[in-house]
Amino acid sequence: MTVPPAIPSATNGRVFVVGATGFIGQFVAEASLSAGHPTYFLVRPGAASPAKATIVKSLQDKGAIPIHGEINDKQLMEKKLKEHEIEIVISAVGGATILDQLVLVEALKSVKTVKRFLPSEFGHDVDRADPVEPGLQMYIEKRTVRRAIEQSGIPYSYICCNSIASWPYYDNRHPSELPPPLDRFQIYGDGSVKAYFVDGGDIGKFTMLAVNDIRTVNKNVHFRPPTNFYSINDLASLWEKKIGRTLPRVTISEDDLLAAAAENRIPESIVASFTHDIFIKGCQINFSVDGAGDVEVTALYPGETFRSLEDCFEDFLVMIKDKVDDKGTKGLPNNPKSVVETVPITAVCSLRRISLP
Ligand SMILES: NC(=O)c1ccc[n+]([C@@H]2O[C@H](COP(=O)([O-])OP(=O)(O)OC[C@H]3O[C@@H](n4cnc5c(N)ncnc54)[C@H](OP(=O)(O)O)[C@@H]3O)[C@@H](O)[C@H]2O)c1
Repeated sequence: MTVPPAIPSATNGRVFVVGATGFIGQFVAEASLSAGHPTYFLVRPGAASPAKATIVKSLQDKGAIPIHGEINDKQLMEKKLKEHEIEIVISAVGGATILDQLVLVEALKSVKTVKRFLPSEFGHDVDRADPVEPGLQMYIEKRTVRRAIEQSGIPYSYICCNSIASWPYYDNRHPSELPPPLDRFQIYGDGSVKAYFVDGGDIGKFTMLAVNDIRTVNKNVHFRPPTNFYSINDLASLWEKKIGRTLPRVTISEDDLLAAAAENRIPESIVASFTHDIFIKGCQINFSVDGAGDVEVTALYPGETFRSLEDCFEDFLVMIKDKVDDKGTKGLPNNPKSVVETVPITAVCSLRRISLP
């Protein structure tokens, strides 16, 4: 791929993050602050849980400015975008509220001052990936938002960062709150299909590089770091090296994953359908990113590094340190979930969730 030199577009422009109290949005808001942007973030009305209140306070302490409201309030969004002279809007709303962004797009279209909009993507290229249901529904909604943005004429970038770096359990929504297995590995198919695993901090960092770069205007921005490119067999070997012992491997076949998806239990079946798409169909790698509508971040920013998966797995080792001694195990239980019950979740690195891309 031939890459033109970097040309900044809206450096230090005012950034408005929607979904900053969520999993991905926190990384983005913190990266925006670190990059020196005046950063505003949306806080939904209603009683905040202690966890959400902590996130809001932490962002405020770092200099972010809260705006109270919801994205499906068009008038309020227009008023706030104008009042604060927002130039960059980044949405990280969750899977259940993807279509709420259609109202936000209308507001952006009406104020005309926003130089870049990043909708809630942060996963696969949804025009290319094609998971089975129930995961497909989220992609259909993300595609609907894409088409509305393209029609609106607002400059956009679609962040296709692939998987969050953690063990990709197929039946659990928050596996990054779980360490990798300690009893046996469940290997999808023959375990050879590779995927990209990216630390949350790097998702934020490269997202902020992209919003300041005119080379990413109206592009799919792919994250394909060669250093973080692993099959599930590779992940298992990496974890075995960390814990100092080998574990049995059990095959979860394509049919097993499809059956789990067909059960239509939400969110587990959504995760099963994405797992099938990633580790059986190879949805992260079965297309080239050389097209006119694509850019790839390691080519755009060759001087920037990614946190390695090896390093991320060190954090899981901290979580289970009282279960593993120098020579291997110290009374490891059969079920890794029982480990989690005894380990503070806050010890985990910035990887808390399986790919819900
Ligand atoms: N690549 C991966 O492995 C991966 C992993 C996870 C997620 N993702 C993707 O990342 C994106 C964000 O997902 P997430 O899991 O981070 O979401 P999340 O944790 O559920 O957070 C959603 C955020 O959006 C806010 N929000 C939702 N609806 C809103 C509305 N109408 N008005 C204002 N704020 C609203 C929520 O506010 P409250 O705090 O008030 O609820 C929260 O801050 C999604 O597109 C998802 O598919 C990718």
